[in-house]
Amino acid sequence: MSRRQLFRMGSGVAVAGMLPACSGAARGAPAFAPIAPGSRDAVVVPEGYRAEVIVRWGDPLFSDTPALDAAALAQGSALRPGAAQAQLRQFGYNCDGVAVFRTGPDRLVVCINNEFPSPALMFPGWQDAARERRIAEYVAANPQCTAVMQAAIGLSIVELVRESGHWRLVTDSRYNRRVTAHTRMQMTGPAAEDSLLGGTPGTAATAFGTFGNCASGATPWGTYLTAEENVQDYFGNAAAAAFEPRASAFHRRFGLRQRGSAFGWEHTDARFDLRANPNEPFKFGWIVEIDPLNPADVPRKLTALGRFRHEGATTVVAPDGRIVVYMGDDQAFEYFYKFVSRGTWDPGNSTANRRLLEDGTLYVAKLEADGTGRWLPLLWSPRGTLSPANGFDSQADVLIDCRGAADLLQATPLDRPEDVAVDASGRVYLACTMNPARGAPPRGAAASRNIDTGVDAANPRAENRGGHILEFREARADATAEDFAWEVLIVAGAADSAHLVTLSDAPLNTDEVYFAGLTDATGISGFANPDNLAVDSFGNLWIVTDGPQPEGNNGCFVCPLDGPLRGMVRQFMAGPVGAEICGCAFTDDESTLFLTVQHPGAGGSLSAPISTWPDGDGHAPRPSLVAIEAEAPGARIGQV
Ligand code: FEO
Ligand code: CA
Ligand code: CA
Repeated sequence: MSRRQLFRMGSGVAVAGMLPACSGAARGAPAFAPIAPGSRDAVVVPEGYRAEVIVRWGDPLFSDTPALDAAALAQGSALRPGAAQAQLRQFGYNCDGVAVFRTGPDRLVVCINNEFPSPALMFPGWQDAARERRIAEYVAANPQCTAVMQAAIGLSIVELVRESGHWRLVTDSRYNRRVTAHTRMQMTGPAAEDSLLGGTPGTAATAFGTFGNCASGATPWGTYLTAEENVQDYFGNAAAAAFEPRASAFHRRFGLRQRGSAFGWEHTDARFDLRANPNEPFKFGWIVEIDPLNPADVPRKLTALGRFRHEGATTVVAPDGRIVVYMGDDQAFEYFYKFVSRGTWDPGNSTANRRLLEDGTLYVAKLEADGTGRWLPLLWSPRGTLSPANGFDSQADVLIDCRGAADLLQATPLDRPEDVAVDASGRVYLACTMNPARGAPPRGAAASRNIDTGVDAANPRAENRGGHILEFREARADATAEDFAWEVLIVAGAADSAHLVTLSDAPLNTDEVYFAGLTDATGISGFANPDNLAVDSFGNLWIVTDGPQPEGNNGCFVCPLDGPLRGMVRQFMAGPVGAEICGCAFTDDESTLFLTVQHPGAGGSLSAPISTWPDGDGHAPRPSLVAIEAEAPGARIGQV
């Protein structure tokens, strides 16, 4: 398959070795009967489909490892001696991004991010301690909880085998691997030797671990890209730390917690205490590349792709063979970025391909009100905007303080830009999950930045609680282009005709919605807070949600992108109580859709649970990987 063919087929989800079996598929909406919004503590899919839990938090990946004693979490089973060592070889917590790599006709290697721990649902008493601001006391009494949490997050790489028509985990597979908050990693790219990262001239820094891994991506050469997002939550005591001036400026724009961290690690592990290690956060906030088929691979952090609260990394092969990676920065009023490699992809040279994301140009998006836009290069120069006069002494500074650099270029602040998907024609979809502060008084500033926080064409709704989805068309359908056109695809929320508007009505009020110009809400499934995205080979956008829905629990929704049904969103799946739904990755033949259920039971605790999914009565909830298939054998998910 040529690079051009690959591009046309939509490499955002389709990479080498995992291409859809049929490229000439007719376009059209999938024929499932949409489900009603669900409030049950269950995974619900339409008639004709089945959902199976494949692997849960605490399931051992190796036969020498005990299973988590999930029935005794409320009695402290995750704090027993040996729990942290076991967790290093068990499936991790709070699964998010997923990518699928085929290794045989009946074999897959699946990479799953384990974004963060939920200590209130892991350890008895944490919830009360957190409420009473006694986390330091709790950690002092239960110091082993830090190591358990550090082992529970990062990534889980697992091999699955298909047997009797079902996917199951291959215990002891040579591919099974956990990457945690301790795994040794190599910094690469233009900032790798910077002293803030712990490098020296001629010697790239190393880092230990990855965390806050949100959405993800895959490359055409078969590696996994995992995005470090809310890394600021893991460090404590910024207010009492002594930062060097350059670090201080960069930390201010990125954001750190002034006192206690979210998980209390600084009380037992000085690496996370900013008083002892004021530069440690600079090793985090990057995209990380890992070879899922080589369990000895040292993961590489890609400084060329910039440092911010990375949501995901969606890769496209451009017509000339260069690699383009689209990335959101998930915070209110942050930006949309893309990286364009200098070199080109050579399917026959895997060694060279592994270095493609070390060298290239990072751009940030500026969206004009007339539906045009430009990608602004984040390039250091001695006398330009990103220069010493404005606080940038090198390209490394620009990459470490991407947000500050993008501010100076006057990029467009968006309503929490999250995951990206690219369709077969190269159209790019960006989920903006929500931003209640958009257009809300007082206007005109956000986090000490001098920006307009008002409603604009790209963020068309005031007090945007439901989020929206943007569609981009690169000039000449070339992902490396510096110009693009864009439009709003959906402004999400409850889909009733009384609140359905057209964009000429903008700015929209907080309860007004837009579904690609449809004028009748009949048949549209309302939804809110789009987070992870995927596109199938039939031209449908798959949307999973994270936030308060108009009705019921978070779920998975499908939106045709062309024809008269464009914008006709229909609900495909509803998740358990308290969970957000993540993942959203198809097998190459699209016969299986992998979703992850993150933080089921959030809002409850071990003593006051609100979910028992997936194990049922008397059990604490467990984040899990779920496989969804049509009951008709071999049918593709989007065409049943
Ligand atoms: Fe981890 Fe952006 O959600
Ligand atoms: Ca996300
Ligand atoms: Ca999320």
